[in-house]
Formats: sequence, structure tokens, C-alpha cells
Amino acid sequence: MASDLKQLKEHFQNQLDAAKDLEILEQLRVDFFGKKGQVTVLVKGLGEMDPELRRVFGAEVNQLRDALSRLFEDKKNALEAHVLNQKLSAEGIDITLPPRPERVGSIHPISQTIDELIDIFARFGFRVAVGPSIEDEFHNFNALNFPVDHPAMDEHDTFYFKQFPDKPRKLLRTHTSPVQIRTMLNEKPPIFIIAPGRTYRCDDDATHSPNFHQIEGLAIAKNLHMGHLKGLMVKFCQAYFGVKNLKLRFRPSFFPFTEPSAEVDISCHRSRGKLLIGQGTDWLEIFGCGMVHPNVLRNCGIDPEVYQGFAFGMGIERIAMLRYGIPDLRDFYAGETRWLTHYGFKPTLVPSLALGLKQ
Ligand code: PHE
Repeated sequence: MASDLKQLKEHFQNQLDAAKDLEILEQLRVDFFGKKGQVTVLVKGLGEMDPELRRVFGAEVNQLRDALSRLFEDKKNALEAHVLNQKLSAEGIDITLPPRPERVGSIHPISQTIDELIDIFARFGFRVAVGPSIEDEFHNFNALNFPVDHPAMDEHDTFYFKQFPDKPRKLLRTHTSPVQIRTMLNEKPPIFIIAPGRTYRCDDDATHSPNFHQIEGLAIAKNLHMGHLKGLMVKFCQAYFGVKNLKLRFRPSFFPFTEPSAEVDISCHRSRGKLLIGQGTDWLEIFGCGMVHPNVLRNCGIDPEVYQGFAFGMGIERIAMLRYGIPDLRDFYAGETRWLTHYGFKPTLVPSLALGLKQ
């Protein structure tokens, strides 16, 4: 019996040594430890043995079974580790490969332009003021000296909200000028503000969008005059377009809220579909401006005999189109990622000023 056990152990060891993979090892497990496996049969056989013999061999058989199963487990662990190592080295990461390009968003040219404008006017002492998109007729028209039912109001192609009885008529602001009114009603002069933001008009073509952006400037102090306005506009255009000898032309114009009023053109040159700012003999309209009308000051509780001021306003899309050579205004809002990649700006760690504005 003892030699049988020794033989079984040798046989097992030989088979174990020969097992080169987990599949063969599994077969070996069935052969030795399975239901009819050699070790199982041996252990079961103990039950039928004479109690005397069982006492002698029982312990030996059990020891053998434990020893063989330990050998088996060790072999199994070794084979599994081998398989894992092979897999790891086969799937090794090649750190010399270049990384996949990451898709990074960009700053929209409108946000970029607003940031630049805020930056330039901040250097002249102007701070940002904001107002709501949904306005009433008082702030958008009446306080700005638009006579009731004046045709100038029709020109603004206003989006009106449904009128409720005894409530002021609400509308989407047609320009940023109501921010002038809100600021003058709330603050005492001197006032130096710029108001960039969304504006709305019922208009849609290559140079008009129902939703667009304006930037408004307002300066109220003692002894301000047209010369200050002209000087600021010249300095601003030089800074924004980066052209030293930029010529400006002031043409008389009309806005209900300024008197006198002017429209400002900059010198430019058009050739073969290209626009060169600051050269040549052509003119391009850039913004509207004027001295704040005494009625507007009075409407806001400011005495026009003591304080004067000027205001100016311009379309942000328009100057962004000029500066970056963007031909169609509607592209600003199409959400085309290729267009955004082309005309957008690299985000910097400094958060966008424009994005921080409540609009
Ligand atoms: N609010 C005017 C417009 O939308 C522009 C403007 C602003 C003109 C300030 C003069 C002064 O057309």
C-alpha cells in the first residue's frame, strides 16, 4: 500500500511537470481530484477498509491528498502568473507613441471682441455697466427722448411682448442705450461707463441678425464737449485697429438722444474683395455718437446746466467682421465647429470678461 501511494505521488508529479498550460492542468485535476479521480477513489476507499488498516493508512492517504493538492495549487498559481505576464508584455504600452490630439474649445470672436473693447475702454477710465435684455418702452425709447409714435421707433423693428392691461409694454431691447438711462437714474455724475451686450431687432440678412451685440459708451461730467468725444473716438480706433494714421470722418446725423449727433467713418481701401483699414480714399461707417441731449439728462434727474456728456454706440459683430475679415454676419450664430476653430481664439487661463457679464 505504501508503495502504491509513492507510485501515485510520482505519477502525479510527472504529470504535473508535463502540464504546460492551464487546460492540461484542468484535465489533471479531473484525473486526480475529480469525482472518479485517482486521489478521490483512494480517499473513498478508506471507508471500505478494515478499521485496523484504515488507522494505518488513513493518515497517510490524507497527508498525500493534502500534499498533492498543495502541489497542484502551486502549479496552478505559477501557470496563471505566467499567462498574466505574457499578456502584460504582449499588451505593453508604448510610451514613445505621440498622444492623440485633444479637441480644445475656442473663444467665440464676439466674446473675444467684447473682451478687447472692455480692455481698451478700461484704459480710458470706463467701467462696464449691464442691463436687462427685456426692457420697457420707457428705458428703451421714451427716456431716450424718442417722441411717442415717432417714426424712429419703427426703424428699430422692435420685438414687442404681449401687452397686459395697466402694465408697461415690454420689448426686447433694440439697442444698449437703455443702460445709459438705468445708470444715470441710479448713479450721480461723473459717470464713465461702457455697456456691451445683446440687442434684438426684427431683421435678418447677410449684415443683420435678429440677435446681435452692441457696445455703448456714456460719459457724464462737468465741461465735457464734442472735442473730448472726437479725441476718444480717434484714440479708440487707433488702439482697436492698430493703425496709427487712421483717418476719421464725422458726418452729421440724427439720434433722438444726442444733439448734435454724428456718424463716424474710418478711412479704408477696398481692393479685390479685401478691405484694408486705414488706407486709401474709401470710408466705412463705424459708429454713431453725439452729445447727450439735455432732455435725456433731465429725464434722468441730471441738470443739463451743470453736467454735459457724450455717448457712442457700435455694433460688435460689425467691427469684429472688419477686424478679422469675416464676410457673413450669420456665421457668428451658425454654430459651425470648423468656422469656430478657424475664427475662434485660444482660451487663456484668464477667464473671459465677456463670459463674466450678466446679460
Ligand atoms: N443706440 C444707437 C443705435 O442703436 C447708437 C448710438 C448710441 C448712437 C449712442 C449715438 C449714441 O443705433
